[in-house]
Amino acid sequence: MSGRSWDTYGDWDQIASSGDARDIMEKITGHPVERWQSNQMTEEAVSKISNIVIEDRMKYGHKLAAVDFGCGFGRNSELVKRFYPILYGVDIPEMIQQFTELNPVGALKNYNALYTDFEKLASSREFHCLYDSVVFQHIKDNDFVTKSAQTMHETASMGCVISLVCGPLGKTALITNLENLGWRIYHTSVDHASFYGYEHNLFILRRGDSAT
Ligand SMILES: C[S@@+](CC[C@H](N)C(=O)[O-])C[C@H]1O[C@@H](n2cnc3c(N)ncnc32)[C@H](O)[C@@H]1O
Repeated sequence: MSGRSWDTYGDWDQIASSGDARDIMEKITGHPVERWQSNQMTEEAVSKISNIVIEDRMKYGHKLAAVDFGCGFGRNSELVKRFYPILYGVDIPEMIQQFTELNPVGALKNYNALYTDFEKLASSREFHCLYDSVVFQHIKDNDFVTKSAQTMHETASMGCVISLVCGPLGKTALITNLENLGWRIYHTSVDHASFYGYEHNLFILRRGDSAT
């Protein structure tokens, strides 16, 4: 499973390998680097995630953990840490190397550990949520997406996926795969709070047997 076949937005190994922090950041957001800012969430989405966090704290205690899948340069780490104090980042090796070396906005400190392989992360850490900000929609390797969804499903502690999808694409293959495994869409909304106001779709998925 490689996960290294991408749509026409760009080849992430080449983008990261440029070693130019400004270029990489502009490709990550699609906006001038001067506008670099974390995604935001509507009050409704905050309330939905807060309910999930309350439920999961009752099950797992207060130190909940999340995976920032395709973390890039850590743009959303502070946002995710508001809900999940332990944060693991995963990205392709080229991006993790650049993030570690350049750390242009100092977000490295927000991660408890960084990984280049989600499967390895999943087999060695406990986590409760996976955050996907415009990552899986770019991955065109269906086997990789199917395998990743299967691993999420098999990770018993994980009951929540937050997925932000750019444009009118709607459900991605990740979301469809999770639904096929019995997960359900707990919340969806058209999102103008993230990515500088441009229209995205926000999906929050829950494992089928969860209460919220
Ligand atoms: C549009 S950027 C979004 C970055 C970050 N989520 C954000 O919102 O700032 C897509 C990210 O997905 C990463 N990516 C692409 N393929 C990946 C894969 N197979 N596994 C992990 N990360 C991947 C890219 O390297 C890049 O950092």
